[in-house]
Amino acid sequence: WIASVVGLAIAYLFGSTPTGYLAGKLLKGIDIREHGSRSTGATNVLRTLGKWPALVVLLVDVLKGAGAIVFARWFYPWSYTLPSVTPPTALDLQTWLPWAVCLAGLAALLGHGRSIWLNFTGGKSAATGLGVLLAMSWPVGLGAATVFGIVLAVSRIVSLSSMLAALAAIALIYGLEQPLPYQLLVTAGSIYVIVRHRANIQRLLAGTESRLGQSSPESK
Ligand code: G3P
Repeated sequence: WIASVVGLAIAYLFGSTPTGYLAGKLLKGIDIREHGSRSTGATNVLRTLGKWPALVVLLVDVLKGAGAIVFARWFYPWSYTLPSVTPPTALDLQTWLPWAVCLAGLAALLGHGRSIWLNFTGGKSAATGLGVLLAMSWPVGLGAATVFGIVLAVSRIVSLSSMLAALAAIALIYGLEQPLPYQLLVTAGSIYVIVRHRANIQRLLAGTESRLGQSSPESK
């Protein structure tokens, strides 16, 4: 179980890497959490710092999620080769691995949204979630990314696109009959992403949510 905890902590640290915050500090000497939507995600980097920094942050944030899954898939089987004090009580790897991989995905999402380096603040975990999905089940990731792209093309509202993509991921993970741990992870992860967008939901309902290319109303 020590390996399990260590693996989850490392996955959390993957997600915690404060990409958007570092971009703000390095490029403009600002704390991005004091600008725009106050999120450290790529959308707020786009508004605050411009296109190229946003693209880099988006890419790294996707890679953080994918990296946590790839890491977990390697780490847990490897940890079983370590000398164990209580080998007979160790859970069967075949049974445990999909659950461990899923928990690592959730830990990465949590890390992005509540980074240990940023006093447990951060982004809304949409890009990191996409990375998790692509590494875990690429057809689901691709489907969610497609929904994101279509909604964004029509509405030009990133938050709405992210939330509908999160809902699409839930539909796809069940529709494509993926394993139970994956279904539970995607359900929990998508709910987490949507809950992180609650300020955006309020703005959407009030009709004040910014569209791509517009500056954001300051928000909590
Ligand atoms: O992934 C975050 C995006 O959906 C919304 O970002 O900065 O507009 O709240 P933001």
